[in-house]
Amino acid sequence: MREHILERLKQSSQYLSGAVLSAELGISRAAVHKHIKKLKEMGYVIDSVPNKGYRLAESAVLSIYELKAMLDEDACKLTPYFFESIDSTNNFAKQLEEPSLIVALEQTAGRGRRGRAWLSQKGQGIYFSLLLKPTLALDRLSAVTQLCGLAVARAIGARAQIKWPNDIYIGGRKVCGILSELQSEELSDPRLILGIGINLSTTAMEGATDLQTEQYSRTPKSIIRQFLKEFFVLYSTFIEVQDLSFVRQEIDNRSFLLSKEVTVSDSTEIYVFSGIGDDGAALLAGEHPRSLHYGEVSVRAHEG
Ligand code: BTN
Repeated sequence: MREHILERLKQSSQYLSGAVLSAELGISRAAVHKHIKKLKEMGYVIDSVPNKGYRLAESAVLSIYELKAMLDEDACKLTPYFFESIDSTNNFAKQLEEPSLIVALEQTAGRGRRGRAWLSQKGQGIYFSLLLKPTLALDRLSAVTQLCGLAVARAIGARAQIKWPNDIYIGGRKVCGILSELQSEELSDPRLILGIGINLSTTAMEGATDLQTEQYSRTPKSIIRQFLKEFFVLYSTFIEVQDLSFVRQEIDNRSFLLSKEVTVSDSTEIYVFSGIGDDGAALLAGEHPRSLHYGEVSVRAHEG
């Protein structure tokens, strides 16, 4: 009912009277008023004028209705979940069965990679997870995480770079992290959870930046919408070709590490990052060249 009222307000550039809505929906005007009040509480700006009715202002609100609308628009077969507050969208995804999109305005126990916490205060970031049930062999799944990074980079814009495997940087600082978790008790039926955290207005983490600092004015809603569009185009191609050859060039062009001297956590050797392979592995040139499938690569700190 509330969703229907919201839809009608979105469609109408004129004021919509309470009487029209109540007749259309077969509910009392008081009930219409109650739904309008609730929508306002959710953050929608609705102008109410006696004898004219209600009109919705252009809104950046993120709500379950907006998620449903964006998934319908893209024909994404995902079930949407929306929370004002949750411990972690990745934790919630673990309990679900169907491919889903989980968005929260705040996380009370947001998780980063390597057991780190991910600060997730309201208004300071975009926090969401995708639960996918990919029909892919397990050794293909790390490439899907890289596609997720590329989709975030595309959604943010031209200045967004990828630090292998899937951190997103702007101007040399981290703006987004991705926590990818695989549940594969049933080897035939893996579940991949991609948790995405994009900094909006906090740089609590050292070496980090955020979209506001970088002068981006896009709303979380439009970034999530763009991300979904980009990701599912990439993902469906990947399901067909099963490697990253079709985006390798783009990933290299966006690479924060390309041609830089880097070190890897398990060795003291200095390498030059020379791009990714079709399987997504980092190609490291040096005295003992290697390709790295998992791990953390750091830009070599120059002394002096
Ligand atoms: C990193 O350490 O770089 C990864 C950070 C991932 C944070 C996101 S926010 C949404 C999702 N839920 C979580 O608890 N973590 C991920």
